[in-house]
Amino acid sequence: MLRTEGVVKVFPISGGRSFTALDNVSIHCPEAQLTILRGRSGSGKTTLMNILSALDMPTKGKVYFNGRDIVRMDEHSRAKLRRHEIGYVFQSVALIPMMTAYENVEYALRLARTKGDRRERVTECLRMVGLEKRMNHMPQEMSGGEQQRVAIARAIAHKPKVIFADEPTAELDTGTGLQVVKIFRELCENEKITVIMTTHDNGLMELGDRVYQLEDGVIVNG
Ligand SMILES: Nc1ncnc2c1ncn2[C@@H]1O[C@H](COP(=O)(O)OP(=O)(O)O)[C@@H](O)[C@H]1O
Ligand SMILES: [Mg+2]
Repeated sequence: MLRTEGVVKVFPISGGRSFTALDNVSIHCPEAQLTILRGRSGSGKTTLMNILSALDMPTKGKVYFNGRDIVRMDEHSRAKLRRHEIGYVFQSVALIPMMTAYENVEYALRLARTKGDRRERVTECLRMVGLEKRMNHMPQEMSGGEQQRVAIARAIAHKPKVIFADEPTAELDTGTGLQVVKIFRELCENEKITVIMTTHDNGLMELGDRVYQLEDGVIVNG
């Protein structure tokens, strides 16, 4: 589903120097599986996620999304890819505070301008994350884990092929984090969504179909 070949990312830094954040990264994230990128803070996880999800360009190397090299796409096609085929989940949940769980998901779906019955799809997505009964709760009436699950429902509403989740459990305790990763597993198995997430929590590794370890911008396993 997603594959990189020899990806390098060099950032210009002050004083006319440069910093190599990713060096010769080649990974493969198979369809309908959960791939985990692990590594300490500063190891390059977010940089790699941004490149995989067409938010940023590598300095060198290839990135294949479903067989297409997204590095060679024009910006319009990349924007279309992001809008239709990708869902994003972030560390800080960022739900709209004055909207209920239902309205948060419905709003995202409206922005995506999808066709079909929105009510049914919103309900279905909240059911998939186990929050059907919390539909009419405001974000501040839900726990951190529940809010993150609403964010997942929001990310899958437009039926993306791939979900990117950058440290989605960083602000949750271990048990709640585990629950969130289990939801990603279910989305892989039941909905055939491909999920790529980053973490520095060792307790979550065994839930990944594949785990890539990053150290100073280099993959040290796999
Ligand atoms: N825009 C940028 N300019 C310069 N350096 C950057 C930039 N973005 C990230 N870096 C550096 O690249 C390294 C990897 O960052 P990042 O991918 O955010 O790591 P992680 O997500 O694993 O914590 C860090 O040392 C960071 O300082
Ligand atoms: Mg990061």
